[in-house]
Amino acid sequence: MSEEDYLIPVYKKIGGVFVRGKGSFLWDEKRRRFLDLFPGWGVSILGHCHPRIVKVVREQANQLIHLPNNLRHPWQAALAKKIVDTSFKGKVFFANSGAEAVEAAIKFTRLYGKGERYEIITMKSSFHGRTLGALSATGQKEYKYPFRPLLPKFTEAKFNDFGDFERKVNKKTVGVILELIQGEGGVNVAREDYVRNLRKFCDENDLIFIVDEVQTGMGRTAKLFCFQHYSVQPDIMLLSKGLGAGFPISAMVVKEKIANLMGRGKHASTFGGAPLPTRVSWEVFKIIEEEKILANVKKMGRYFTNKLQGLKKEFAVIKEIRGKGLMIGIELATNSYPFFEEAFKKGLIINSTHKNVLRIMPALNVKKEEIDLGLNILQEVFEKLC
Ligand SMILES: Cc1ncc(COP(=O)(O)O)c(C=O)c1O
Repeated sequence: MSEEDYLIPVYKKIGGVFVRGKGSFLWDEKRRRFLDLFPGWGVSILGHCHPRIVKVVREQANQLIHLPNNLRHPWQAALAKKIVDTSFKGKVFFANSGAEAVEAAIKFTRLYGKGERYEIITMKSSFHGRTLGALSATGQKEYKYPFRPLLPKFTEAKFNDFGDFERKVNKKTVGVILELIQGEGGVNVAREDYVRNLRKFCDENDLIFIVDEVQTGMGRTAKLFCFQHYSVQPDIMLLSKGLGAGFPISAMVVKEKIANLMGRGKHASTFGGAPLPTRVSWEVFKIIEEEKILANVKKMGRYFTNKLQGLKKEFAVIKEIRGKGLMIGIELATNSYPFFEEAFKKGLIINSTHKNVLRIMPALNVKKEEIDLGLNILQEVFEKLC
């Protein structure tokens, strides 16, 4: 059997067949070991098969896997409380993927505009997902173009350019959606003054400030949520990826004062907030607290970044090292894909994005020895290709 005969070829695959994962390592069926410094595309924040996650999946699967949303179970509200207690006073809607959380935010924001205001400002080079609404909010032509016409009334503004944002606002504008660090777009970090200005403008003009933390949330940047680096709070925050540390779940968190706008029957998800994913996610929060994950992200993020700055001094092809915590981008003066491929050949998994950026997002419990091993491989990769 050849998988190409059966799978729609939307993904570019590399390597053999992977059969096992543990912590920051993966093994293929030929027992070849890979150091995975991009586990699950930013999802597997506790590494592969964390023993406590494996245990709660087993336990909860034995008790209750799924329940429709007209019936109660203990974990949905418990997880919502945990998210709210650790972020800002608000209410939560659960779904299954990042794009679904984005869709919910678009609907919520449109509802807020009461049919009189409906335009949403989005950022160039942003990425919010592949469903038609989320794609409409995504500021990258190549993903959107083949699917025109998309959802109307999204206007792109230049990231980190408050003047451009102000110019794009008009009487019909009802909100803005922002990644505080653009992931897919090349690990571009929002400046503090920019974010503060956006927040102030939204307050003064009654706009909804949506922060997409699908990639930056759950400790990735050394704070539980990236907005906590900036002295502002969003009106809506979107979470997915690390929220279930490998188990599909997403959430839209909406500030309390506007949360009840989305009343009964206005939105729903069959699988959203089921017992198994919410139980797992609750455990993820506990592990982050009990295993002092944020402190590790801070320490290892600093260590990794400093070492990469050293690599930059050695290889002129490296233009910039940027990011926060363990969300790291290495901008190259050339196509980054061959560097990704060469690293893979040498047993290291990282990511190449936005044509010339290598993205590294290790498990948040990554160890110094694992980072050192990755750095040694990267050194060899740059020596070979430069
Ligand atoms: C910031 C951001 N938002 C939304 C999404 C879409 O998430 P999903 O692929 O789970 O729909 C992604 C995926 O990479 C993302 O990085």
